[in-house]
Amino acid sequence: MISRRALTTSCLPPTIRQLLSSRTASDPVQVNGWVKSVRRQKKVAFAMISDGSSDKGLQAVFTKVDLAKPLTNGCSVRLTGKLADSPGKGQDKELQVDQVELLGECDPAEYPIQKQALSVEHLRDHCHLRARTDEITAMIRLRDLASRSLCRYFEDQGFCYVHTPITTSSDCEGAGEAFRIAPPPSPDLPSSENPAEFFGRPAYLTVSSQLHLEALANAISRVYTLSPCFRAERSQTNRHLAEFWMLEAEWAFTRDIDDVCTVLEGSLRHVLKQAGASGEPVWTAGERARLPQLQAYADSDTAWPRLTYAAAVAELEAFHAASPRTFDFAPAWGRPLQSEHERWLAEHLARGPLFVTDYPAHLKAFYMRQNDAPGRDPRTVACVDLLVPGLGELAGGSLREEREDRLRGAMVRFGLGEEEYGWYLDLRRYGGAPHGGFGLGFERLISWMSGVENVRECIPIPRWAGRMLL
Ligand code: 4AD
Repeated sequence: MISRRALTTSCLPPTIRQLLSSRTASDPVQVNGWVKSVRRQKKVAFAMISDGSSDKGLQAVFTKVDLAKPLTNGCSVRLTGKLADSPGKGQDKELQVDQVELLGECDPAEYPIQKQALSVEHLRDHCHLRARTDEITAMIRLRDLASRSLCRYFEDQGFCYVHTPITTSSDCEGAGEAFRIAPPPSPDLPSSENPAEFFGRPAYLTVSSQLHLEALANAISRVYTLSPCFRAERSQTNRHLAEFWMLEAEWAFTRDIDDVCTVLEGSLRHVLKQAGASGEPVWTAGERARLPQLQAYADSDTAWPRLTYAAAVAELEAFHAASPRTFDFAPAWGRPLQSEHERWLAEHLARGPLFVTDYPAHLKAFYMRQNDAPGRDPRTVACVDLLVPGLGELAGGSLREEREDRLRGAMVRFGLGEEEYGWYLDLRRYGGAPHGGFGLGFERLISWMSGVENVRECIPIPRWAGRMLL
């Protein structure tokens, strides 16, 4: 006999944010959360309770002081009481507690998350607990909001959200940063017979979903994904992680690098507007101060400026000649733009986001479309980097070389074999449409929006060379 029970639509108790926005003051409520601080006086005790759903948490008031006795910083509790208007500063409502259930004890002498400001290094060392801080909670919620609004933008533009593989046979960017995947030895075979390659050929963790997105865009027209990428990035900068997330969009039937700029700009304006208008707890107080500037970028009536690499280098050279001590690296046509150059262009020349297009082919990846139309410099490719103040490069994109003969020539120049890239040539051979797209570094987006300088604080559990604690 199967027993049937009444349908329940949710088994989850309300979060503090839900409670604060929906309950009338007189209802008895239950609040689940972690204690952030406790203050005891003779006749009353106060505790700040947080469940990560609201920026401030909820002040709990204990007129029966003994009830607060078991509470320590960091412990988890279930409090029952009534929500009432708060006479105190900094909050509209408080919880007048009638009952306390201690769910998880926490020894305050050993708890690494103290109320006073903690150094970034200390929090990195206690990465498994750092989501208990206001800064990391806000960052995680900003990631959530940004990914939702990016998805909404692409959905509205007719894009299909697709899933691309993490394991791959190619190093899309050709920068030699792909991590190799090694299979564990099979216990059933003698070590001499263990296959070196699990997939029958060398396999890597993906550095970018682009090549797979191209295959899908050449059938579904407009596709995007938000996916982890892995790069054996040895330089320890505040813009690089070994594992990061990238929003990549790819679409067919586009012939102009300006289209790539327009879609990228549209998606970012949308995220900035959504984040500015949302009441979600995605900012710390300091970060909120950046909002007017971000809104100005989102609302400006004119498109974000676009400049060719050649024109950008000319501006940099003129500035370098006038102030020779500003840059560590002299700018010159044919050399990569250094991060100091990128920041100067965005911060001093454009005073805002700036697209730099048409880089020399030898500085970029093999798949980019050659600029060989009349009036264009054939030494360059149809590509773009988006530079923003405070950060430098936020995103990169290009038109992809859809002409089979040109692509084959580029593959020879870059030393890429048909064995790995035959399928990529096939995409051109069988009705390949002109197409293009871009990749937006998700942690860099969060860093730019929040003003948090290092991308290690823009991902919940970061990985970089020499560091993987959990
Ligand atoms: O410029 P990248 O290397 O471009 C690509 O990978 C293209 N295949 C993307 C495409 O067209 N679909 O990387 C794109 C962005 C960079 O602008 C940067 O924001 C971010 O990815 N990025 C990193 N972010 C954190 N840590 C790293 N090691 C990163 N490397 C790139």
